[in-house]
Amino acid sequence: MVSPSRQDSVGHPRNSVSFWANGSDGRIHIDTPFSRLLGKPPIMVAGMTPCTVQAGLNVATLNAGYHIELAGGGHYNAAALRSKVAEISSRVEPGVGITLNALYINQRQFGFQFPLWQEMRREGLPIEGFCVAAGIPSTEKANEIISALHSAGIKHIAFKPGSVEGIRQVVNIAAANPHYPIIMQWTGGRAGGHHSCEDQHHPIISTYTSIRQQRNISLIVGGGFGGAEDVWPYLSGDWSVQQYDLQPMPFDGVLFGSRVMVAKEADTSASVKQLIVDAPGVDDVQWEGTYDKPTGGILTVRSELGEPIHKIATRGIKLWREFDDTVFALPREKRAAWLDAKRDYVIGRLNKDHNKPWFGEKADGTVVSDLGTMTYEEITRRMVRLMYVSKQSRWIDVSLRNLVGDWLRRVEERFAGVDGIRTKESLLQSFSTLNEPLPTIDAFFASYPRAKDQLVAAEDKAYFLTICQRPGQKPVPFIPILDNTFEVWFKKDSLWAAEDIDGVFDQDPQRIAILHGPVAAKYSNKVDEPIKEIFGNIESVLVQRILERFYENDESKVPRIDYIGAKAGSPKVGLVDETVTDNVRTLRVGKVVPSTDDWLEVLAGSSVSWLRAALTSVNVVRGSGYLSNPFRRVFAPRAGQTVKIESDGEQTRSVTVYGGARSAGNHPADFKAVELSFDSASRKISLTMFEERKGVTVPLYFSFVYKPSQGYAPIHEIAEGRNKAIKDFYWRLWFGDNEQLPELALDDTFTGPETAVNAQDIQRFCDVVGNQGESFRSSRSENIMAPMDFAIVLGWQVSSVAKLC
Ligand SMILES: Cc1cc2nc3c(=O)[nH]c(=O)nc-3n(C[C@H](O)[C@H](O)[C@H](O)COP(=O)(O)O)c2cc1C
Repeated sequence: MVSPSRQDSVGHPRNSVSFWANGSDGRIHIDTPFSRLLGKPPIMVAGMTPCTVQAGLNVATLNAGYHIELAGGGHYNAAALRSKVAEISSRVEPGVGITLNALYINQRQFGFQFPLWQEMRREGLPIEGFCVAAGIPSTEKANEIISALHSAGIKHIAFKPGSVEGIRQVVNIAAANPHYPIIMQWTGGRAGGHHSCEDQHHPIISTYTSIRQQRNISLIVGGGFGGAEDVWPYLSGDWSVQQYDLQPMPFDGVLFGSRVMVAKEADTSASVKQLIVDAPGVDDVQWEGTYDKPTGGILTVRSELGEPIHKIATRGIKLWREFDDTVFALPREKRAAWLDAKRDYVIGRLNKDHNKPWFGEKADGTVVSDLGTMTYEEITRRMVRLMYVSKQSRWIDVSLRNLVGDWLRRVEERFAGVDGIRTKESLLQSFSTLNEPLPTIDAFFASYPRAKDQLVAAEDKAYFLTICQRPGQKPVPFIPILDNTFEVWFKKDSLWAAEDIDGVFDQDPQRIAILHGPVAAKYSNKVDEPIKEIFGNIESVLVQRILERFYENDESKVPRIDYIGAKAGSPKVGLVDETVTDNVRTLRVGKVVPSTDDWLEVLAGSSVSWLRAALTSVNVVRGSGYLSNPFRRVFAPRAGQTVKIESDGEQTRSVTVYGGARSAGNHPADFKAVELSFDSASRKISLTMFEERKGVTVPLYFSFVYKPSQGYAPIHEIAEGRNKAIKDFYWRLWFGDNEQLPELALDDTFTGPETAVNAQDIQRFCDVVGNQGESFRSSRSENIMAPMDFAIVLGWQVSSVAKLC
């Protein structure tokens, strides 16, 4: 612990940029507005599809103590996202929260992910933050989004502007929502993934002052980072001084994308990681060279969304670029003619260099340019060859197995009756018989021998092309036709292979698309380094730099603070009547009741302590999930209340609330309503709420533990004994304060006196709890029913009456 005055200086940075490091749990933490917001170091893994879609990298990063965004991009329905959250939360420490990166540009996905994220938080899952990626909403839309996140108990929102206009838009959003934390992730044109063509620095230079006017913005920089030395100028602000002779323009945090694709826990396939490591990368000034030719092992192509995107310059990407510059540069309607003229060349290149080869191939391996020259059996076996990973006995995706199943049913329709062997029943009763496809297909064509030799009919060729493109199934990993839609066939669904090279028909990583930033590639030079090690090394070098620059390399000069993650203390002076005697602060709320936020700030005081954690944390940890902070409700200000805060000279020991109007009526001024105390040895926080019943107070006990090492969620409820304490409370309330809670069996029965139930009481209860059930409406008064939860009303009355009797 340190004296309050010392804590003040640490606890409240002068502006949104702070270089302080501080030690509390024996470690030195970097202290910036971003680390305060997260309760974690200010370095993070950015959302990446597919790299942060699987649980592995998310879990490893979170368990290493760093922030990461789960990519929404790879989650196509609510069940998939729910089960990913369940998996991650079961593999991380209780209290660790999850943040989603949802692609705003993809309105179908965003449309289910945004409400689902709130719903999961309301259910008590550890949902912490939400990143609106790939597009900045209008201020009105953003206001709606923020207000929904805020009321669900989600702690922060992030935006990723890619231009000056984007930055200004985020500044407007922040200004319109000054009390909600906003993370602005700036990445310039050198970043991995979809990006603008912007310079890394100029857009920030021209907007820095206006960004800094919004104190709720944490300004993060990304794009091209891989180590401590390259991020230090951005955290310290040296970059703008040294490169542009301007004022220091420090950022509050740094994000890493491409660099972590080669981390041990990333699902990037081994041979793909090796290709990334082999790409030398470039310095900042050279990165634009990737627009012209492979530079540092990276080449920039046009994505399926028509945006520039950096990729490892594999053979496949060089071909992509060649087509970008030729056929895809033509107006769409002219492409078929171009392809026709170069049919053999294009087919040859696809088969040699692209991960989606040309489909047409006879059983003897002869390449054919027209599907119409293949038999039904040849088409079937070619599908299996390209979509079934035989050495691992699995389909690339189950929807591709079903595609083969649908094709076989079509073949059956064509040949049933012709061979005279089937008229009613399909040989393919279930698609699961295709889980091991070859025996099923052998048997199938043995039953339909004509399908072995007969060339596919024109209608069936058309059917085949249609089902290959149907929505809702994984796009097929081959190209069956050369026409004006070639760009879609060529580019669609290009990212998965980097994480499933075995799914590529010959496992050649040189065929595939591997997203990677040109500058970051310079730092991706070791395969399978654990994320904990990568980030741990970066963090410790940054700490060293801070020590050297601000503390004369002397750790003892580093200010101490209880935990990283508290909002800066800013109690308003003179908000309520306050007296201080010895170690007791006494605060009185008069008739004018202050706002809850202002009041809690005053109670918490300026220091960063267990009390600040209890009163100001957004969430409290219950089990492995979150609960909206209950202390906020318990300590909300009420007219006529008196609060005594006792300390031992060093830190607050207890807070006691007396009197105050409550929903049940006014308490006498000396009625002790709430008591909160802290035991510094065990870090246990005890909360006792008192209920008045006929002049006697009945206590209700809750216990929490303060974990300053988890600054992101420093208050955890102690579950043990909680339910018993609540039962005990109600027992005393209903049966008398001297009554002991007996051991109760589930089938114990209690009989009270008869009580009359009337329709109005039921209806009033239903109105209050929002139950719209028709059976409970008084319009059906002769037969009105009561909902099950009405029993609590009866129970309460009967026991009170029983006691009164
Ligand atoms: C493989 C890959 C996939 C990406 N996917 C996404 C995504 O789904 N959502 C998003 O907001 N950004 C995405 N990005 C961009 C990153 O979040 C981040 O801004 C960028 O990678 C930073 O640049 P760097 O790669 O040079 O570190 C992706 C980047 C890469 C390399």
